[in-house]
Amino acid sequence: MKKRVLISRQVFPEVLQSLAQQFDIDHNDADDILTPEALRVRARDCAGLVCCLTEKIDAAFFDACPQIRAVCNIAVGYNNIDVAEASRRGVMVTNTPGVLDDTTADLAFALLMAAARRVTEGERRLRNGEWTKGFALQQWLGTDVHHARLGIIGMGRIGQAIARRARGFDMNVCYYNRTRLSAEEETRGNVQYVSKQELLAQSDFVLVMVPYSQATHHLIGAAEIAQMKPTAILINPARGGVVDDAALLAALTERRIAGAALDVFENEPALLPGLLALDNVVLTPHIGSATRATRLNMATLAATNLIAALTGGTPPNLVNP
Ligand code: NAP
Ligand code: GLV
Repeated sequence: MKKRVLISRQVFPEVLQSLAQQFDIDHNDADDILTPEALRVRARDCAGLVCCLTEKIDAAFFDACPQIRAVCNIAVGYNNIDVAEASRRGVMVTNTPGVLDDTTADLAFALLMAAARRVTEGERRLRNGEWTKGFALQQWLGTDVHHARLGIIGMGRIGQAIARRARGFDMNVCYYNRTRLSAEEETRGNVQYVSKQELLAQSDFVLVMVPYSQATHHLIGAAEIAQMKPTAILINPARGGVVDDAALLAALTERRIAGAALDVFENEPALLPGLLALDNVVLTPHIGSATRATRLNMATLAATNLIAALTGGTPPNLVNP
């Protein structure tokens, strides 16, 4: 008898087909976010779960789904899953690293450029009929990207892909991690290791690319924003909660920094009231990895992880310690 598996969000037909050859599938084709209770009910008899970061996988889930052996996230970040609790119960947890690095780095750079050069604001004003004088020398002036200093907090896979893009713009890149890269990696990437304080004080663009965890909760809050230059721009393509959105909203409203660009939010899809009214922030709806090719690669990798986990193998992207 085939093992039963729940796929909690809509996936590509080719991924569904490959999983259906091995497993008895329950697929949430409607793609609505299942309530925690609905998720528990549908996964109750399942050996495996393929899910997204919209599903919270916690002790209550494991209590209700004792047959679950593997939880395979279609995302590199897995802060939606209580990994310690999974490990205690012998449940394998997997993610999808690597296949989304370049795509996410492209979006991070798009955010940086859009905020620097007021691209989305300019388009909004044009569409609103505010472009009445034609070319004007002092109209909608932005910030130069080329030769500016970019500070990346979280120089991991995606951070390094962003730094590679920055080299093409002759940017001067510094970074902060808890663990310093090797001298060879720093030379190859042309990146300079600095303290978090130095990075905040010296960068024209501060970009966070860390996973969300207790250690990175509000890594950028009011105190950190206060250390940034008044001309600086903050970019968060990482995870909601890494930046204190309320502190950022206050700083942007009072023009204490020049701008921000955000792909992720603390309570997404809900936004803080006030954020939408600001012109000095670029907002995108968590689309860092959103190209067809990359999302297909992510879903395929999650399926590969699940198949390995439920057929006695070791999944390539096991995250349990
Ligand atoms: P990664 O390769 O593990 O890199 C994470 C980096 O963050 C590491 O260099 C790590 O270095 C650093 N870091 C972790 N905790 C830190 C802390 N407390 N202070 C300073 N640096 C810290 O991960 P990745 O693949 O680049 O992905 C990073 C995150 O991006 C994911 O977890 C996900 O949340 C997010 N993401 C978002 C999107 C999107 O759609 N917007 C897409 C993909 C990924 P140390 O451990 O040495 O500090
Ligand atoms: C997306 O946010 C991811 O973590 O892959």
